[in-house]
Amino acid sequence: MKLLVCGGAGFIGSNFVRVRLRETDDEIVVLDKLTYAGRRENLEDVADNPRFSFHHGAIEDPAAVGSAIDGTDAVVNFAAETHVDRSIAEPDAFVTTHAQGTYVLLEAARERGVRFLQVSTDEVYGSIAEGSFSESSPLQPSSPYSATKAGADLLVASYHHTYRLETLICRGSNNYGPFQYPEKLIPLMVLNALNADRLPVYGDGLNVRNWLYVEDFDRAIGHVLEHGAAGEAYNVGGPDECPNIQVVRRILALTGNDESLIDFVADRPGHDRRYSLSSQRVRALGWEPRVRFEDGLEHTVAWYRDNSWWWEPIRSGAYRDYYQRQYGRALG
Ligand code: NAD
Ligand code: DAU
Repeated sequence: MKLLVCGGAGFIGSNFVRVRLRETDDEIVVLDKLTYAGRRENLEDVADNPRFSFHHGAIEDPAAVGSAIDGTDAVVNFAAETHVDRSIAEPDAFVTTHAQGTYVLLEAARERGVRFLQVSTDEVYGSIAEGSFSESSPLQPSSPYSATKAGADLLVASYHHTYRLETLICRGSNNYGPFQYPEKLIPLMVLNALNADRLPVYGDGLNVRNWLYVEDFDRAIGHVLEHGAAGEAYNVGGPDECPNIQVVRRILALTGNDESLIDFVADRPGHDRRYSLSSQRVRALGWEPRVRFEDGLEHTVAWYRDNSWWWEPIRSGAYRDYYQRQYGRALG
């Protein structure tokens, strides 16, 4: 297959490109705006692969989309603004990319009859105290991030219903692994711990997330693209859930630190307590997660420890954000 991978310079998209080039004969065209989270460094090891090419451009730009999509068999759309805290502070780009961007991509796919897979999130269902959400659970997003992602999902579904475009939606739980931008819980805590900086835990630290190793999500997306039924959504949950404070304690242990580095800080406004997905539908299609959280976390900590070339150029900026958030003033 020849795939257009939008947002392929980000965390999950770049790992997807790597997995597909390694495990399939796919040809891959990446279209990416290169926001703060999208980096050419994430794709450095595949840059010379003859089955890979890169277009710099935004999904909300019809000209950029038009030149990247021609000749492809399917679109996989990872392109998004992905940090909940940023969506609370500045929702603007979330609306542009998720609403207008998804619309432009859908129109280009419709004109050419190209299969379309939208990468989405468990956050569109909102928080659940007990049990798990299925694909038919109501969408009840709570942040500007998840609300705009839910809007994109509904638009994608409407293109199947109205125009019979072959669409698929994959809703993943919290991903972790190499190349994740250090604003998200795990890479932020790992890098702060490696550098003996403070670890800011929101609220009581008892919010629960369901952890999915990035390559497991990427293989699920590939599997759904190949075997999924047009018009369907597929939940993709990880094998293990864990309260934040336990994640942080485990990272401290893996980096040889003690708990005195933890700071309990003000909670995120509207903070979802727990996410949980039932993944029966994608499992029935033949996908299983391969990586348990304990092993994946150990591997992830080792990757950050061994790849300072990747994070050193950005860490000072990430640390500035963290400092500003925690202390309410800019780092000197
Ligand atoms: P990321 O922030 O690491 O990467 C996003 C990528 O999209 C970047 O390369 C960025 O440059 C690009 N991008 C942003 N706006 C764009 C635009 N308008 N046009 C073209 N490119 C643009 O994100 P991620 O964590 O890799 O998430 C990828 C997708 O997976 C997102 O759709 C996200 O909602 C979804 N998702 C993420 C998680 C998670 O835990 N990170 C879990 C489930 C689903
Ligand atoms: O569930 C899937 C979603 O997971 C994706 O759709 C999002 O793109 C992705 O960012 C992620 O959202 P979360 O809000 O769950 O991830 P984040 O890493 O920001 O936070 C995870 C948990 O850790 C959450 O309960 C908030 C808490 N947290 C986060 C940060 C950054 C802290 O306690 N301290 C922090 O500094």
